Amino acid sequence: MTELASRIRALPGMDALLGALPGLPPVYLVGGAVRDLLLGGPVGDPDIDLAVEGDGVLAARRLAARLDGEAVEHGRFGTATVRTGELAVDLASTRRERYGHPGALPEVEPAPLVEDLSRRDFTINAMAAPLSPAELGSLQDPHGGAADLRAGTVRILHQRSFIDDPTRLLRAARYAARLGFALEAETERLAREAAAAGALARVSGPRLRDALLGLLAEADCAAAVEHVAGLGLDRSMHPALSADPDRVASAALGAAQTGADRVLAALAALVMDEPVELREWLEYLALGRERTDRVARAADDAPRLAAALRRELRPSQLHRLLAAEPREALALALALGAPAEPILRYLADLSHVRLEVTGDDLVAAGIAPSPVIGRALQETLARKLDAEVSGREEELALALELAHRAGREAGGR
Ligand code: CTP
Repeated sequence: MTELASRIRALPGMDALLGALPGLPPVYLVGGAVRDLLLGGPVGDPDIDLAVEGDGVLAARRLAARLDGEAVEHGRFGTATVRTGELAVDLASTRRERYGHPGALPEVEPAPLVEDLSRRDFTINAMAAPLSPAELGSLQDPHGGAADLRAGTVRILHQRSFIDDPTRLLRAARYAARLGFALEAETERLAREAAAAGALARVSGPRLRDALLGLLAEADCAAAVEHVAGLGLDRSMHPALSADPDRVASAALGAAQTGADRVLAALAALVMDEPVELREWLEYLALGRERTDRVARAADDAPRLAAALRRELRPSQLHRLLAAEPREALALALALGAPAEPILRYLADLSHVRLEVTGDDLVAAGIAPSPVIGRALQETLARKLDAEVSGREEELALALELAHRAGREAGGR
């Protein structure tokens, strides 16, 4: 058996899958799994892509029945996912794609495997490994992907590739960073040309979001961002974006220290120089309200936080400064040189401090419900953080005193 055949067989659930293929149209392992198996490392993406030279949905249904799994059909052209206990494979009918206008979603129709391979992004992703018993271990590699893998080269298949699908610009940066590969000279020239012509500004928000977040999720996101900056992809996404690899690296590190979302912290690092101008672009990415707000607040607030944290602060001041901030803002403040100690102290200790009394206790003690209660509790918490009160008795006495005083002051006015 060839080396490739034994690596394919070693994929989780693959033996059972191979046994279930007889009688189906030809099925091939395609995409990233072939690339990763040839590189000899682990397969990065746990969802394995299979191409079916025939009806992919029908093949998925029959496979699911034979493997006692389930098939989920996607309604998109001939695609379905088959899941069993240990296996998840995406099946798609081999197809050709035609791009109506640059950046648009392609029109799709059935086509033989070779055409399916030639619609793909890079030679290293355009190989297929047949799964039939007779051919297992052989490779369909019409574009020289294996040679490019050996040479460490990211190469597109044709001149219009980046124009047809500009998200490939970000994918090129991503693979170059992940694999430590270089862009082939003509590929690099065309990437720069497409970027300079504003190709990425024409991509829809959700597609750009997926491609950009995928890039920022790379283990070495700083290397990916270095390629982004080097190729001018930042300016191509928006003229005010300027990708700083060092800052992205620091933000990712800050995210690990603070429990922030690493990808959102890295995105905040990208937009922080021009947060007002880039706000609309951030909305365009369609991250959802909550994630958009976290990124925008981090980008807006981090410089102020970093400056404030350099001063000596009482625990209550530290709490007031950080309590309403998303973790990504703390991560970015660290990236901007804020001292780690107060941030880590806030996260480890101060953020968990709670009063032992509640508003109900004050109402039970005769304070009329009003905003006075909230303010009295807030001030009591501040004094507790500064170790001026401790225990329920002292907290209650202080909160009551503060509420009464506020009541008297309001009455005296
Ligand atoms: N593909 C493409 N153009 C794109 C996206 C994907 O040609 N814009 C093709 C490539 O052949 C790719 C395959 O579809 O290998 C699967 O895409 P995806 O799952 O995004 O990437 P993987 O190659 O599986 O790589 P990874 O998840 O490891 O990045």
